[in-house]
Amino acid sequence: MFESFEKLPDDPILGLTVAYNNDPSPNKIDLGAGVYKTEDGNTPIFEAVKKAEAIRLETETTKSYTPISGYPDFCERVQPLILGDGHAAIGEGRTCAAATPGGSGSLRLAGELINSWKPGTSLWVSSPTWGNHTPLLGQAGLNIKEYPYYDRDGHGILFERMLETLSGLGPEDVVLLHGCCHNPTGADLTPEQWQDVAGIASERGFVPLVDFAYQGLGDGLAQDARGVRIMAGNVPELLVSYSCSKNFGLYRDRIGALVAVTGSRSAAEAALSHMKVNARRLYSVPPAHGAVLVATILADTGLRESWEEELDGMCRRINDLRALFADTMKKKGSPLDFDFIKSEKGMFSFLGLEKEKVRRLRDEYSIYFVDNSRINVAGINPGNVDYLTDSILAVL
Ligand SMILES: Cc1ncc(COP(=O)(O)O)c(C=O)c1O
Repeated sequence: MFESFEKLPDDPILGLTVAYNNDPSPNKIDLGAGVYKTEDGNTPIFEAVKKAEAIRLETETTKSYTPISGYPDFCERVQPLILGDGHAAIGEGRTCAAATPGGSGSLRLAGELINSWKPGTSLWVSSPTWGNHTPLLGQAGLNIKEYPYYDRDGHGILFERMLETLSGLGPEDVVLLHGCCHNPTGADLTPEQWQDVAGIASERGFVPLVDFAYQGLGDGLAQDARGVRIMAGNVPELLVSYSCSKNFGLYRDRIGALVAVTGSRSAAEAALSHMKVNARRLYSVPPAHGAVLVATILADTGLRESWEEELDGMCRRINDLRALFADTMKKKGSPLDFDFIKSEKGMFSFLGLEKEKVRRLRDEYSIYFVDNSRINVAGINPGNVDYLTDSILAVL
């Protein structure tokens, strides 16, 4: 078997991190992988996470398996975090949640669940979307199709065209929407636009699948959940794929959740049973460590406050860096206007540079980002913004 394998290329995004790490340049800048970084390039552990880990070390009494749906306290507490405290669907028992290995695990579980409902279901993703959506969901058997989303030249959402495509769908379709901080564009729907999409979803009968991987990194925990909450209040059925990698900084601990909002208690019970059967044959039981930490933080007023404060600081810093970059480009007389970066959300934006310029920045200036010109804004800081902007201006 192994003799027949040809070595495959590195993952285009994670491979950039390897190339960056191997680059000896003192000026190198990493704007590649979607990982939050402080000014000194570190991806910090939240204070609240450290404290929750200490509590876990003291209080844990077993490493036996959790249920297939994961650590129950996590499953319970993640739902109001997403849908809001006191959401009617939770009160009425119409929701269910399974813990998963990261957001990727929840997307794959969603894919398997949808495919076990109707094999080869059409799943509509935004053009463009996160590079792993198609492999993760396509390999589950779904038929991946695209709806228009982002205008690369105008740096805005092609909302009319998006609605036009969605208006042609029906109850056999599933539509993937980014809850906030759209990856890779940073261009998010407004609450009014969410309302319109929810209206079309309930009219046409397609099921929305909201990929919610960046709650708290765009405008704040509640603001970032506006879209998913509008959906939950207006459509009969909804899937939410959640990740705790970014907003709890638990990247390597692999914790996320798949949440379903259904029409009745019995439908929620049935949905959970299908999630469990699919999880069992995919990975059997999800990891517990991150789930226990998240549940501990959400249950403790002090830890929760500390977590929210730290997350809020990250969110404000990302928005400040967006302004710093756009304003510095303007001050230096950039022939291109980068003000759109200020109104986009989360860690990502497209700079709008051609691949050849992205490659020049990598090869000649040691500035690393994806060929499609997606940058991770969190890699910018006051110490590197001059070198970064000068280099971009040199290749423009
Ligand atoms: C849009 C989107 N969804 C889901 C994920 C999955 O995150 P993870 O599997 O690391 O929790 C990511 C990670 O980059 C993402 O950008």
